[in-house]
Amino acid sequence: MIFSKLLGLFSNDLAIDLGTANTLVYAKGKGIVCNEPSVVVMRMDTKKVVAVGAEAKRMLGKTPANIMTIRPMKDGVIADFNAAGEMLKYFIKKAHNRKSFVSPRVIIGVPSQITLVEQRAVKEAAEASGAREVYLIEETMAAAVGVGLPIDEPYGNMIVDIGGGTTDVAVISMDGIVYSKAVKVGGDTMDEKIVAYVKEKYSFLIGDRTSEQIKIEIGSAFKLDEDRTYDANGRDLISGIPKSVRIREDEIRETLAEPVSLIVSTIKTALENTPPELASDIVDNGIVLAGGGALLKGIDALIRQETRLPVVVTDSPLTAVVMGVGKMLEDLALLKRIAVG
Ligand SMILES: Nc1ncnc2c1ncn2[C@@H]1O[C@H](COP(=O)(O)OP(=O)(O)OP(=O)(O)O)[C@@H](O)[C@H]1O
Ligand SMILES: [Mg+2]
Repeated sequence: MIFSKLLGLFSNDLAIDLGTANTLVYAKGKGIVCNEPSVVVMRMDTKKVVAVGAEAKRMLGKTPANIMTIRPMKDGVIADFNAAGEMLKYFIKKAHNRKSFVSPRVIIGVPSQITLVEQRAVKEAAEASGAREVYLIEETMAAAVGVGLPIDEPYGNMIVDIGGGTTDVAVISMDGIVYSKAVKVGGDTMDEKIVAYVKEKYSFLIGDRTSEQIKIEIGSAFKLDEDRTYDANGRDLISGIPKSVRIREDEIRETLAEPVSLIVSTIKTALENTPPELASDIVDNGIVLAGGGALLKGIDALIRQETRLPVVVTDSPLTAVVMGVGKMLEDLALLKRIAVG
């Protein structure tokens, strides 16, 4: 009993996927202990935090003028340093059952093409929120570990992480990234496109949460058999009165075609730049999709059609990165082999 108590006290290290849309925390020996939207609600005047995570996301678009809703991450990097620090502090505390005295060692997944300045910002935000030692790890590498790809072998693996802010493509072999390419296109871009389309087509204003819901419910990248509809609530821009508009799946598919084709062309560029021996491994083994954007209906079918390669969506795309970082937390030898800084 004393032993388990001690173990609890010392095994407080955390793995974090600090994402544009969602932040996930994995505690050593426990697994995922926190999985919430990357949103902070603060008072304008005092900068006091009102809510973080799921509770804050519910307030999105509903706050009065003196209260602001902040998404601290944009395009995979920190956009608001103070809010990112507050958010990390809250999640780290939550991961430790609000015991604020523990100062954990933390490993954080970051986009593969992040600059040194951006890396420093992540480290400093984590340190400011109480972390003792901070390691950074490339998210694509983490996702590859998370989905169980054989990254240490002399064998080409392609992983595509379609997140809220960015899409990251990487070819990994022998514990290293052979090629990587990222574009600032992901789920957020899709949501913005839907807002713009509905505004233009129906003179109808919907909020960000509604557009995300439309994407999740009836969004698709490839024509499948269904033709679903979604009744979206919002405000009529002509009468100024709230109402509901019925939106069809094919309209949304067309609206999403541009961001989706950018994702596809990023994958094609990556394939063109992959050394031939590794490319032939990818022909055999295919492409693995992770990140929440991989859940867009038919995106795997479209990529399969466009590349003529096998494409699979991993079982739990939203948790792939944090599970990978978590595996590194449990296996320090693995972490030392691949940590970026
Ligand atoms: N069923 C679904 N269909 C389409 N998109 C979805 C679905 N479920 C979640 N998403 C989208 O996935 C995105 C979030 O994915 P994820 O949590 O992997 O991003 P992130 O890691 O926070 O972002 P990034 O890696 O860019 O920093 C959001 O844009 C969300 O709307
Ligand atoms: Mg991500």
